[in-house]
Amino acid sequence: MNEKPNVLMVTGGAGFIGSNFVRQYIKKYPSDILINFDVLTYAGNLENLKEIENSENYHFIRADISDRNLLDRIFNGMIPDIPAPNQIVHFAAESHVDRSIQDCTPFIQTNIVGTQVLLDIIRKHWTGRDENCRFIHVSTDEVYGSLGKEGFFTEQSQIKPNSPYSASKASSDLLVRSYFKTYGLPLIITRCSNNYGPYQFPEKLIPLIINNILQKKELPVYGKGENIRDWLFVLDHCEAIDVVLKKGKVGQVYNIGGHNEWKNIDIVNYICELLNKKLNRDFDNTTLIKFVTDRPGHDLRYAIDATKIEEECGWVPKHRFEDGIEETVDWYLEHPDWLKKVTSGVYKEYYEKHYIADRNIRR
Ligand code: NAD
Ligand code: TYD
Repeated sequence: MNEKPNVLMVTGGAGFIGSNFVRQYIKKYPSDILINFDVLTYAGNLENLKEIENSENYHFIRADISDRNLLDRIFNGMIPDIPAPNQIVHFAAESHVDRSIQDCTPFIQTNIVGTQVLLDIIRKHWTGRDENCRFIHVSTDEVYGSLGKEGFFTEQSQIKPNSPYSASKASSDLLVRSYFKTYGLPLIITRCSNNYGPYQFPEKLIPLIINNILQKKELPVYGKGENIRDWLFVLDHCEAIDVVLKKGKVGQVYNIGGHNEWKNIDIVNYICELLNKKLNRDFDNTTLIKFVTDRPGHDLRYAIDATKIEEECGWVPKHRFEDGIEETVDWYLEHPDWLKKVTSGVYKEYYEKHYIADRNIRR
């Protein structure tokens, strides 16, 4: 008799990290079933999943994680052809700090209320069940707030979020913790540093800089460009989530990062130089750099101590930054249609308001 297949629900699987995870997972585990549950906000894009959309073990449901009734029906096995999930990787979120500064409301709704709905659903359907049930809550190092020039975030660092985005993620982390302590549900939290790689929406620093260079538009660097981020290639993050799913201990938090700190201005210069070499133009991209009004509450530095996931789960990043960033730049060069599509319509309105009106950038 065949064993019951593992049924994984991924929320937010049409976004940047989620879609990289889904593509990797579908290929790696062909006998598992994966349900991608995504409402497709501006950041969700089914184009990201073309490669695997016809796979037999893949299902897509377009819906909001706050839709309690639909989730209840899914977990009751009432949707034809879709088995009830025994695992969840929860990516779905509003994820951009600058947008949270403009309007926090959708961050509260999706990141906090949406997470609570998911937790209630698994409380109802997984209590007393074993069957290798796991819920991975994909969180961020930003919940720890900002570091000074020294030190690293460990899992014991204080939760001290500074932006409405990170406050909403911290709130969801605390809810997850409370549902573990109170109901003993099989929950794990991961907190990763900044990701980069193919399919990232060009509102985040690295793809925004690549896109603006391609269009010879100004490259907006907030403040003096002295802020530091710890960059990790997206597929390394996806692999870390996979090992936590398999080897992580319930009730635990795992930090994920690659010891790869860069000042913003250095990373912008690096991408300018890389594209100076790759684009056959008689033009120096660094002349496009423009220092603009700083982000309010801008965290100075993030840096992750990832010893715990390395020691407990045997995970270390595989991509050197120099290789990962080149692969990323090449991907954007090879996908002009993707870039064009995602930067039309509502993206233009966001860009106008955030950079042209708020930060005094030239068109
Ligand atoms: P993203 O913004 O690219 O994608 C978010 C996805 O969630 C989109 O597909 C969107 O349609 C979907 N979504 C949003 N609201 C939803 C809702 N109410 N119901 C269903 N689906 C909804 O985000 P990302 O960069 O891929 O980040 C994924 C997760 O990883 C987030 O939880 C984020 O906090 C976390 N994270 C991101 C980074 C990073 O550098 N991008 C680093 C650490 C952690
Ligand atoms: P971002 O990609 O938005 O990620 P996060 O704020 O979650 O770290 O920004 C990365 C860094 O780059 C952050 O310090 C803000 C800065 N930044 C700019 O200088 N200019 C930009 O246009 C953007 C989007 C970010």
